Amino acid sequence: MNVPLLDLVAQYRGIKHVVLGAIMAVIERQGFIMGPEVAQLEAEVARLSGTRHAVGCASGTDALLLPLRALDLAPGDEVITTPFTFFATAGAIHNAGGTTVFADIDPGSFNISPHAIEAAITPRTRAMVVVHLFGQMAAMEDIVPLAERHGLALIEDAAQAIGARRQIAGNWRMAGELGTVGTLSFFPSKNLGGYGDGGMMVTGDDALAERLRRLRLHGGSRQYHHDEVGFNSRLDTLQAAVLLAKLPHLAEWSAARARNAARYTEAFTGHPTVCPPQVDSLNSHIYNQYTLRVPRRDELQARLKERGIGSSVYYPLALHLQPCFAHLGYQAGSMPVSEAATETVISLPIYPEMSRDQQDAVIEAVLQFYA
Ligand SMILES: Cc1ncc(COP(=O)(O)O)c(C=O)c1O
Repeated sequence: MNVPLLDLVAQYRGIKHVVLGAIMAVIERQGFIMGPEVAQLEAEVARLSGTRHAVGCASGTDALLLPLRALDLAPGDEVITTPFTFFATAGAIHNAGGTTVFADIDPGSFNISPHAIEAAITPRTRAMVVVHLFGQMAAMEDIVPLAERHGLALIEDAAQAIGARRQIAGNWRMAGELGTVGTLSFFPSKNLGGYGDGGMMVTGDDALAERLRRLRLHGGSRQYHHDEVGFNSRLDTLQAAVLLAKLPHLAEWSAARARNAARYTEAFTGHPTVCPPQVDSLNSHIYNQYTLRVPRRDELQARLKERGIGSSVYYPLALHLQPCFAHLGYQAGSMPVSEAATETVISLPIYPEMSRDQQDAVIEAVLQFYA
């Protein structure tokens, strides 16, 4: 049975008329840049994230770059992040002029370890970028006080975690709510994906929101008047229109992903070799990815492919070992937990429209491989 890793066509079939209507409204109006849909989406996403402000931008990568740029990093200023994430997280630190310092992950959640962050802080540390990987939040109840104690900016990379929540001191707190700024990606494969690139920054800091709004428009608060040099990093009105049309479905899509995850986890729990993802009991996970830890991972992936089942390895090489970061001086063995993860992880299809039969085929293929 064919089971793709993700089936966006199936999603499109269910929302086609609404999305096409939203797109056509923008086209009929011929208003493509900073149209009203951008501000509407910003208001909705700020509400969802529990923040006062949301500022759209061109991608999840730029959503990281702009707040890092707003830190006005001097050469040698350090920003701590995880080596087990998509490249953009560390690439943005580099492109903002910072020196990336890696801190290893927690073996259960795959998220950055607060202890490792603390051990990596030096007098040159200015900020940390914490990634809520695969859709579950990092240990913010430990990380926020750490950032406050050391006077560090805290950027939450919530590219994979829109709508994820964590219970802190008895209250549900949203991904992006507790940091200096939270960053989102609307890359098509995300739980809320556009029809192209897009991103957003959420913050409760009025002055920072103003600065980010400037930075996305070439650093000017009035047309043709530039207080600083910024970027062309607007969220397209067409993308905002698509995302507004899709947003009412986000909660139900994430719930369907969580139901699929629960079925997988039931099937794999207790298996002698297949290790389902560990969900921190404080988290409400949105399952942008469902990631197993397995032996003979590459062989399993080849077998799944033979049977028409999609899968992916997020991520096969930790960032501290990427050739472009060789100058940072890390070696194999520097980040053992992340390195072990890169050798064993495999993400299975988890998309909301996957049928029971399709999911049964994935489960059977995995179990048969290890039988
Ligand atoms: C953790 C993380 N950070 C940043 C990004 C960058 O987002 P974009 O692809 O929208 O630039 C992604 C996208 O895959 C991501 O997964």
